Amino acid sequence: MANTTLVLGGTGKTGRRVAERLADRGVGVRVGSRAAAIPFDWNEQSTWKAAVADVSAAYIAFVPDIGVPGAADAVGAFAETAVASGVRRLVLLSGRGAPEALNAEERMRTVAEQAGAEWTVVRSSWFAQNFSEAFLVEPLLAGELALPLGDAKEPFIDAEDIADVAVAALTEDGHAGEVYDVTGPRLMSFGEAVAAIATAAGREIGYVSVPMDDYAAAAVTEGGLDAETVAFMTFLFAEILDGRNAHLSDGVQRALGRAPRDFTEFARRAAATGAWSTDS
Ligand SMILES: NC(=O)c1ccc[n+]([C@@H]2O[C@H](COP(=O)([O-])OP(=O)(O)OC[C@H]3O[C@@H](n4cnc5c(N)ncnc54)[C@H](OP(=O)(O)O)[C@@H]3O)[C@@H](O)[C@H]2O)c1
Repeated sequence: MANTTLVLGGTGKTGRRVAERLADRGVGVRVGSRAAAIPFDWNEQSTWKAAVADVSAAYIAFVPDIGVPGAADAVGAFAETAVASGVRRLVLLSGRGAPEALNAEERMRTVAEQAGAEWTVVRSSWFAQNFSEAFLVEPLLAGELALPLGDAKEPFIDAEDIADVAVAALTEDGHAGEVYDVTGPRLMSFGEAVAAIATAAGREIGYVSVPMDDYAAAAVTEGGLDAETVAFMTFLFAEILDGRNAHLSDGVQRALGRAPRDFTEFARRAAATGAWSTDS
C-alpha cells in the first residue's frame, strides 16, 4: 500500500499546516486542491479518482463550508471514491453546531465502516486564523472590525492545534472512531479577541457590533462582496454564533494529552509575521 496522504485544502488554513507536519515526519503528501499538480475540485467529481490513486490516508477539508447544504452528499461521495481506491484512513475536518456538518460526519463514518476503513472526526470551533489569514484581515488592517455578532462568545482555536490533532489521527494508532470536538482553552467575545490582536499588533483597533441587515448591506456596498458571498456569511453567522457553541470542549487534550494553545499566543505569533501591520 502506498504511504501517501492526500491533504484536501492542502494550501488552506488547516491543510497547509497538516501537509507541512506530514512532510516533516517523512510521510508522502499529495495536496488536493484546484491548483495542485493533480488537480482536485469539489465541484468536478471527475477529478477525484486521480487524486486518491495510490493514497493510504486522506485529510478531508470541504469547501466552501461543511455546514452548507450539499456538504454531506459531497463528503459521502468523496469517501466512497476514496475507500474504493484503497484509502484506509479518513480524517474529516468538521464544524460545531451545524446540522449539515453532523450529516457529513455520519456519511463519512458509514462509508468508512462499510469498507472496513478507519475514520476520525476533528470537529472544530472558529479558527483564530480567520482573523489573520481570511476575511477578517482587511477590516482589522483598516482599524475597525464590525460584525453582526453582539457579545457572542466563541472558544477560538488555533489552526496549529487542529493540524496537530489531524496529523496524530492520520499517522498514529489509537484515534480511529474518535470524534474530537476541539476548541481553544477559553471563551472570548469578538471584542476581546480584537483587543488581544490590537495589543499584539501595537495598534488601535476597535470592534463594533452592527445589526445583521446593516452588516450585509455594507459588505456589498463598502466591502465589494457579491450578494452570494454575503448571503453565505450571514448564514454562517446565524448558524454558528447564536450561542449554541459558546462552550469549551476537550478534544485537543484527549487527542494530544496537552492543553490547547491560547489566543494570546496566536495573536503574538501572527503579529510577529506582520499579519496586522500597516507598514508597507
Ligand atoms: N474557518 C473556520 O473558522 C472553520 C471552523 C470550523 C470548521 N471549518 C471548516 O474548515 C473547512 C475549510 O474551511 P476554510 O475556510 O479554513 O478554508 P481553507 O482551508 O482556507 O480553504 C482553502 C483551500 O481549499 C482549496 N479549495 C478552494 N476551493 C476548492 C474547490 N472548489 N475544490 C477543491 N479545493 C478547493 C484551496 O486551494 P485551491 O484554491 O488551489 O483550490 C485551499 O487549499 C470548511 O469545511 C469549514 O467548514 C472552518
